[in-house]
Amino acid sequence: MGFKVAVVGATGNVGREMLNILEERGFPIDEIVALASRRSQGTEVSYGDRTLKVKALDTYDFSDTDICIMSAGGNVSKEWSPKIGKQGCVVIDNSSAFRYDQDVPLIVPEVNPDAISLFTRKNIIANPNCSTAQLVVALKPLHDAATIKRIVVATYQSVSGAGKDGMDELFTQTRAVFVADSVENKKFTKRIAFNVIPHIDVFLDDGFTKEEWKMVAETKKMLDPKIKLTATCVRVPVFIGHSEAVNIEFEKPITADEARDILREAPGCQVLDKREDGGYITPLESAGEDATFISRIREDSTIENGLSMWIVSDNLRKGAALNAVQIAELLVERGLIQPKKKAA
Ligand SMILES: NC(=O)c1ccc[n+]([C@@H]2O[C@H](COP(=O)([O-])OP(=O)(O)OC[C@H]3O[C@@H](n4cnc5c(N)ncnc54)[C@H](OP(=O)(O)O)[C@@H]3O)[C@@H](O)[C@H]2O)c1
Repeated sequence: MGFKVAVVGATGNVGREMLNILEERGFPIDEIVALASRRSQGTEVSYGDRTLKVKALDTYDFSDTDICIMSAGGNVSKEWSPKIGKQGCVVIDNSSAFRYDQDVPLIVPEVNPDAISLFTRKNIIANPNCSTAQLVVALKPLHDAATIKRIVVATYQSVSGAGKDGMDELFTQTRAVFVADSVENKKFTKRIAFNVIPHIDVFLDDGFTKEEWKMVAETKKMLDPKIKLTATCVRVPVFIGHSEAVNIEFEKPITADEARDILREAPGCQVLDKREDGGYITPLESAGEDATFISRIREDSTIENGLSMWIVSDNLRKGAALNAVQIAELLVERGLIQPKKKAA
């Protein structure tokens, strides 16, 4: 028994990774379709050993497709996801378009798998923001053990989080600096090569950015509405892998050793925490990996029941494509979806 799966945004950073992960994990697929804008019609993308010719989203008929994994930005999703859902195809959406909709579950399978049953309301399931996904994977088991009251997080987000144009800009600018060429800022507001930029997404009235607000809203929706969170989101000149310096205040006492033991057993987590040179993870090593890595776990004596830690993950995998495929797997495991072809 296999499904017909469409990947929208198949030529993008997340879409390409999506095709890799669907194949790597052996998701039960009878037919796979790669979709993107008309610009990409006929271009080729890889799915395992096979090459797929990209088709245009706006002329594709979803009526016999079971699952659509959307990775083409918020505007495309706003226009297309409801229409696709109405055709009986379940949409797993990577954009922020439906994450805060009460009728759309926002899912990280290690964190809130039971919320998935809500999906029948609109046939849409939302995938969280990349920075939030890795944060909640690491914090869920600690919240279960000692109840988190407040989180202070600073992110160090790679340029791939801004799509393929973001990666191109870091590459082009780095080269331009070395050959003493002029450096142009197109995707980012300031030079990203050999620099860091404390600004991701638009500014809101309270001075925070939308990226920072997303971390607050999504953590509350998935983990616990009572948790207070404040974030500073920063773009750094790293190609793949988001890092986070996190300070957590708990209701109950928890030691660094206890947290380390809990995280060692937690799904999706890998502890790499030796207090010696190189005994921690960096984003470079996280690229291509599925785990959320946790290092530098230590007690913070400036607050009651406080811990600090360093959380790193591949933003294109757990932050986007892997999580979306895990959501599709959850639908299948729980018998929430049947292939249309078999039913017909
Ligand atoms: N990168 C991350 O870490 C990350 C994490 C979580 C969520 N996301 C979300 O995932 C989505 C994709 O991100 P990305 O990094 O893969 O971006 P990207 O590399 O810029 O790729 C964008 C994709 O969307 C397609 N697209 C654009 N306009 C379209 C249209 N009108 N119709 C159909 N397809 C269209 C593009 O196709 P063409 O090649 O034809 O233009 C391309 O395949 C975004 O919503 C993003 O917020 C990204």
